[in-house]
This record gives sequence, C-alpha cells and structure tokens, in this order.
Amino acid sequence: MSTPPDPSNFTSILHENRVFKPAAAFSKSAHVSSLAEYKRLYAESIRDPERFWGRRANEELVWKKPFKQVLKFKAPDAKWFIGGKLNAAANCLDRHLEEDGRANKAALIWEGEPAPNGKPGEERTFTYRQLHREVCRFSNVLLRHGIAKGDRVLIYLPMVPEAVIAMLACARIGAVHSVVFGGFSAQSVADRVSDCGAKMIITADGGYRRGTIVPLKKNVDDALRLTNAEGRLIAASIRSVIVLRRSNHDIHIEEGRDYWWHRELEYVGDRHEAAVMDSEDPLFILYTSGSTGKPKGIYHTTAGYLLYTKLTSRYVFDLRENDVYWCTADIGWVTGHSYIVYGPLANGATVVMYEGAPNWPEPDRFWRMIHRHRVTVFYTAPTAIRAFMKWGDEWVKKHDLSSLRLLGSVGEPINPEAWMWYHEVVGGGRCPIVDTWWQTETGGILISPIPGATPTKPGSATLPFFGIIPEVVDDKGDKVKANEGGKLVIRKPWPSMLRGVWGDKQRFRDTYWKEVPGSYFTGDGCRQDKDGYFWIVGRIDDVLNVAGHRIGTAEVESALVSHHSVAESAVVGRPDAMKGQALVAFVTVKTGIRATQALRDELRNHVAKEIGPVAKPDDIRFAEALPKTRSGKIMRRLLKQIASGNEVSGDTTTLEDLSVLTRLNQSEE
Ligand code: PRX
Repeated sequence: MSTPPDPSNFTSILHENRVFKPAAAFSKSAHVSSLAEYKRLYAESIRDPERFWGRRANEELVWKKPFKQVLKFKAPDAKWFIGGKLNAAANCLDRHLEEDGRANKAALIWEGEPAPNGKPGEERTFTYRQLHREVCRFSNVLLRHGIAKGDRVLIYLPMVPEAVIAMLACARIGAVHSVVFGGFSAQSVADRVSDCGAKMIITADGGYRRGTIVPLKKNVDDALRLTNAEGRLIAASIRSVIVLRRSNHDIHIEEGRDYWWHRELEYVGDRHEAAVMDSEDPLFILYTSGSTGKPKGIYHTTAGYLLYTKLTSRYVFDLRENDVYWCTADIGWVTGHSYIVYGPLANGATVVMYEGAPNWPEPDRFWRMIHRHRVTVFYTAPTAIRAFMKWGDEWVKKHDLSSLRLLGSVGEPINPEAWMWYHEVVGGGRCPIVDTWWQTETGGILISPIPGATPTKPGSATLPFFGIIPEVVDDKGDKVKANEGGKLVIRKPWPSMLRGVWGDKQRFRDTYWKEVPGSYFTGDGCRQDKDGYFWIVGRIDDVLNVAGHRIGTAEVESALVSHHSVAESAVVGRPDAMKGQALVAFVTVKTGIRATQALRDELRNHVAKEIGPVAKPDDIRFAEALPKTRSGKIMRRLLKQIASGNEVSGDTTTLEDLSVLTRLNQSEE
C-alpha cells in the first residue's frame, strides 16, 4: 500500500543540529516549566492512561452525567468515557458565563477582509455571553427547520463568525456538522451531501477573497441540480438551505427551500437548553483526501475530542486567561475545528478570526492584525511563512509585534530556514515555536513541543503529547533504529482518535489499521533521532500536501479522465520551494485530440469544477504514453523523478516500454 520514504528527503534535516532551549522567563510561568516535568507527566500518562485521562475528563469537562468507564478498545474501535453525558457547545459557552466569570470576556474577535483601498475591514467582537446568545438563537432556527439529534448539516460558509455560530448550534442541538471549505466546488458539495445524507446546507450569498466574491450560494444551487449517471439528484437529501447575507450581491432564492439567516432569527427566542449527548455521539464529519477514491468522511465524537482539543490547546499554546490567540486556518479544515473553535473556546480563550488572505490588500495583513489586536499566540502554516519570507522582512518590520509570546506551525513539514526566519523576524528571537504534527484523523495535536519545557530543533515536531505513543517502524511493523527512516504509527488509542469513516467501516480498517496490524497508521514517513525527536518527512501514500492542503492524487486523476479529451492521467507531487509540494499531472489525450495550451487551461479549469480551485494542477504535461509495468501499473516513482527534473534512477527493469521514458523527458517544454 505504501512505499518507504525516499531517504533523499532527509538530507536537509539530517544535518540540522541547532537546539533552542526555552527561555527561563517563559518557562517560569508556563503550564509545564521544565523538560523533567514534561517527562514526569508523560510517563504518568503512559503508565496508566485510563487513570490519566479519567482524571482529566472529570476535571476539565462539565458532565450532565458522569461516565462509568474510561476506555473500551478493541482495534480499531475505541470508545471513551462510556456512559457519560455532556454537550460540547455548553462546554465551550455556558460554563464560562456564570460559574467561570467570563461572560463579558471577548470570545471571538473577527476581522473581515479589508477594502481594496486598504481601509480596514469590518470588525465584530462577541463576548462569551453574546456568542452564547447567538448560538442559542441559531439552535432554535435549526430546530424550527426540523433538524433533530443525529441529523447531518453541511456548513459552506466564508470565514465569518456565523461559521462558528453554526457549528456550535449544531453541537448544541446534537446535530452532526460537516463543514466544507469554500475552495471546493458544487460537485464536491453535492458528493459530500450525498455521502452523509445531510438534510440542510448553511451557506452565504458569497464570501470575500482578495477583492473578489466567492459565489457560495450559486455553487449550492448548482450542487442541488447535479445528477448522477442514473439521472437522480445527487444531493436529494437536502430539505432546506439557510443563507447568510454577506456579500450582498443578487442571488437566487428558491421559495420553500431557501431561507435568509436574518429572517429566520425573527421567529425564534434566545433561550435554548443544550441537548444531552452521549460521550460517543458523533460531533462532526470532516471530509479529507485519501490515497484512493473519493474523500473520506472522517468522524469524531463528543467527549474524547473535546477533552483532547481542550488540553492540547492549553498545554501546546500555553494558554493563559489574558492571551489573545489567533489561528489563521480556515474553519473548513480540521485546524479550524480544533484550534479556532472547540479547543480554545473550551478553555475560555479570546480567539481572533479573520476573513481574506495573507497578502491582501498588501503582504502585511497578518502583521497588521497582530499589531492591531495585540495578538499574543499566533498559529499559522509553513506555506504562509515561506511566502512572507519571499515578500520581504520590511512588511513584518513595519508593525509592532512585541505582544507576541508564542508561535505555532501546522499542516506540513517546516524547513529549518523558514523556522529560523519565523523565530527571528516574527518572534524577535524571544518566542518559542511549536511545530505541531497531527491530522484530520487524529483530531488534535499528537507531536509537538510543550513550550517552556521542550528544547526545540528547527524542522522537528519534537516529542509526543501526553498519552501518545508514536513509533517509527519498518515494513514488518518493528521499530527501526534511531535516525533510520520508516512509517509513523501510533501504538495506543487516544481520546480524539477518529471513530471511523462515515458509512464505510471497511475503508476505516483498510486505510488505518491494516498496514501495521493493531496500530494506527498515519500515512507519514518519519525519522526519530537519538534524542527521541520526531522528524516528519511527509506522506508516503498517494496523498499530496500542497500548501498545507491535503489532496489525493487518485481524486485529481479521476477528475482529469472525466474530461472527454483525456485517455489517461497520473498525478504526482514535485517539491516546491513555496508550497512544499506542487501538483504535476501527466496526461495522455485521446486519439485525434491535439495537446495544446488551450487544452491545458481547460483541463485545469475542469479539475477546479470537479473538485475545487484548491486542487488545480500546477503543471500539466502531455505525454504519448505513461511508464507502466508489464502488469499495467503506472510507475509513479519514475514520474515523480521526471516531474522533479531528476535523472530517472533505480530499477527500471519492470518497465514495459523503455522508450516511454525518453519521450517523457523530451515532452518537457
Ligand atoms: O503529512 C502530515 C502533514 O499533514 C498531514 C495531515 O493533513 P490534514 O489531515 O489535512 O491535517 C492538517 C492539519 C493538522 C499529515 O499526515 N502535517 C501536518 N502537520 C505537520 C505535517 N507534516 C509535518 N509537520 C507538521 N507539523
């Protein structure tokens, strides 16, 4: 299923030996103040995980009914906090009102996209009391539309506070939300509705990005018209669409199906008693790409997810009561779920959220916002960091970033050069960096420094979080020696582990539990150094990570061959200085079709239509034939080498027709 990581990937990080000790001033008041303390807590969490998690669950979560048993695990099925009843939204909101005295504390500070002339965008702040009220009102809207416990609701909104409100309202009434990133197409929306049988879509007329409008409602209209091969509507389960007014442009409203968000609020009150949910009731489904087929609906349940995201938020970001915390991720990805919504709000933190892009209207949007809101903890992606490096230090230096005390990175490996730049130019040399490794499936951060405790090494996600046992193993599943590359697995279950692939138990088993029996297989290649530090190399399956976005090569290939001109295609990644990886598609066209630049553009747009702009290939290379084995399997390894501009090396004896290689090399413009 997977191939061992290419050792050449290790070269840039193999020689990295700088170590940054946490500054004494930071450690003094941190939640965990020394490596010894981290080691003690970690050992305790591993010695008796049930005791560790059971105690934490009692301390951290507000329960309607206590759980009877901490864990029941028979691979691949885990159940945590059995018999417990609680509500995730009540844990993020209600508990902060009276008991915890945060009613008038800012929960959410939101900044919309600035105008093209640079004028600051609209700004809205919600205190915990206000956010609670809005969530209660919208919960009542959902109920009025017949949404009940367990029903699925698709959320396709821009980065506006209503996205958070909609998610928490679903959680409050016990509906299962599935957020779809705005960069996905009508087809992707329809496919996700069909897969999870959603009853409702919550969307907006449009969202803003770099001065243009993303036509979300139009995409929903298109999605609801799409039919399958038998001529049946794909998104037939949808009963109603709630539309938020955001961009104010003309849209179609279908009587009896589409309802304006603001109008619906007129019919409801602002009181709502949070539904009592079981620990293991599903909280949300999030679709993510895998190595085969269509995206999988990863689902997470209530108590374990909430506890784990709450604890990791507190320890990894060292959250304190007066922090102003900003995670720049989109709510459509798991980072937005765990570290904009559930984790920080469960801690009663002040969360900054933004709409737009890092370089609009100018390449200092982030630094301007940090200055303006006095952000203390900042969490972003390596792709953004590398782009800022390119745009120049002067954009950073224009702003006072002295409020920052901690920096975080997520989504892809961070190269030591970008790490150092982040540390020096953004963090002024004083802020610890937490390079956090995790996945949609893991629900929360599994490997990361604990600031104040863990010495960091640029490019390494360092050590595991409490209760997590990662290991680097060989093809037989045995642990490899220090510094040897291998597959990253997690040996024991943890509370926020995915509970399955929605509606596809077999795929859950096959994808994650078959490769190394009894352990969770991450799909990542990794190396552990002699200090026990983990160095993630990247995916070893056919999943690419382009600018921190996870894209399955099989999905893009199937989009390409659905175009009438394409006979065959193979999609591979090539290293990209900015985006980590870029998507290269090798395409053979059908007889009689001319391979032109116009066709190339058409194919890129076709992929955008089928999947979304997020999956557009960076490069399309026409080929007369693709390199195959005698049994007809495309030799991706060779294509990867060609795409990267490397000499083809390694074994080519199984190649059916050697001349294909020569022709492929020549086909480069
Ligand atoms: O390859 C790893 C990479 O992103 C993958 C997970 O992608 P996704 O489910 O979209 O979640 C992204 C946000 C958590 C992983 O399998 N990845 C994520 N964080 C890191 C990383 N690679 C290296 N270092 C990281 N810190």
